Amino acid sequence: MTRDHYLSALRGTDDRGAESPPVLLAPLSGVTDLHMRRLAQRLGASAVVSEMVAAAELAKGDAESQVRAEGAGISPHVVQLAGCAPAPMAEAARIAVANGADAIDINMGCPAKTVTGGESGSALMRDLDHAARLLAAVRGAVAVPVTVKMRLGWDHASLNAPDLACRAEALGLNGVTVHGRTRQQFYKGRADWSAIRAVVEAVGIPVIANGDITSLDEARVCLRESGAAGVMIGRAAVGRPWLVGEIAAGLAGRAVVPLSAEARAAAACEHYEGLIALYGAAMGVRHARKHLAAYADADGGLSADDRRRLVTTTDPAEALRLLRRAFLEPAGRATPPLGEAA
Ligand SMILES: Cc1cc2nc3c(=O)[nH]c(=O)nc-3n(C[C@H](O)[C@H](O)[C@H](O)COP(=O)(O)O)c2cc1C
Repeated sequence: MTRDHYLSALRGTDDRGAESPPVLLAPLSGVTDLHMRRLAQRLGASAVVSEMVAAAELAKGDAESQVRAEGAGISPHVVQLAGCAPAPMAEAARIAVANGADAIDINMGCPAKTVTGGESGSALMRDLDHAARLLAAVRGAVAVPVTVKMRLGWDHASLNAPDLACRAEALGLNGVTVHGRTRQQFYKGRADWSAIRAVVEAVGIPVIANGDITSLDEARVCLRESGAAGVMIGRAAVGRPWLVGEIAAGLAGRAVVPLSAEARAAAACEHYEGLIALYGAAMGVRHARKHLAAYADADGGLSADDRRRLVTTTDPAEALRLLRRAFLEPAGRATPPLGEAA
C-alpha cells in the first residue's frame, strides 16, 4: 500500500473512495508478532502495528528488535518505535523505513515501569517539550507517514493529550491514537471514550480511539462518544484476529460474514506454524503458548484436559491436532455472534 493509500485509510476512505472508518490492530508487545499481523490484515484490518521496538536496540542492530520490526507480506507495514532520546529514535526510524516500513508510529502510551523508568512510553507525556523534540526528530528523519500513540495523560490532574496531539499536528505528524485511560490507571477501570473527544476537537489530523472495544456495537458507541475517525482493537483480537476485519466491515456498512469454523481453524494453525518457522521449534512453541490459550478460550471448544495439553505440549503436531479440535469439535460454548457484547 502506498503512503497515500495509508493516509486515506486513516482518514476513513477506502480504495474506491467510499466511507470506511479505519479499524486497526493495536501494537501488543509479545503478542502481535508478524504472523498475527499478517492474518489480521488479510482478514480485513485497515492496518496493523508492530509490537513496540526499542529504538536504541534497533539502531544497534539487535536481532530480536529486527524480528519485532519484520513486516514481510504486510502492507502498510507500520513499525512502532519506543525510546526517549531523539537521535536514536530518528536513526531507528531511518532503519525501519530502509527495511520496508511504510509508516512509523511513536509510543507515548506504554505505562510499564520498565519503559517509563527509562523516560519512554507514557513518561513522555510528563514533558511535552521533550516529547515534541522526539516527534520532530522522527518526522525530520523519514518521508513516510508518522503517527503517535498516547494515553489521555499521565494522571487525571494532567489530561494533556489534546496539547500533545496539537504539537504532533503542528510538527507534521499524520495521525494520533488515544487510549482512553491515563498512565496511572494502567489497565484498570474502563477506557473513557468520551474523553477522547477533546483530542478530536483539538486537531484536524485523524484521531483513532482505543481501549476496551470488543465488538462491532462497542466500536459504534466508541465512535459516537469520541467523534474519532476510527478505532484500534488490542486484547479482544488475541485468539480472534478476524475480529478486526469483521468490525471494519460492519463500520463500513458491509455485511459481516463470520468466518466458518474451518476457516478459523486454518487461520489459527497457519499462525502457529508461522511462529514455529519464524522462531524455530523450541522458542516458537514457547512464544505460541499465549496464542494457543487465547484461540482455545475464544472458541471454548476444548475440555480442560485438552486445553492444558494444548498449551503445555512441546510437540507441534499435537498442538495442531488440538487446535483444530478447539474449532471443529466444540465441546463447550459457541462464539457469540458479532455485535453482542462478549
Ligand atoms: C500485553 C500488552 C502489550 C502491549 N504492548 C503495547 C505496545 O507494544 N505498544 C503500545 O503502544 N501499546 C501496547 N499496549 C497497549 C495496547 O496497544 C492498547 O492501547 C491497550 O491494550 C488498550 O486497548 P485494548 O483494550 O483494545 O486492548 C499493550 C497492551 C497489552 C495488554
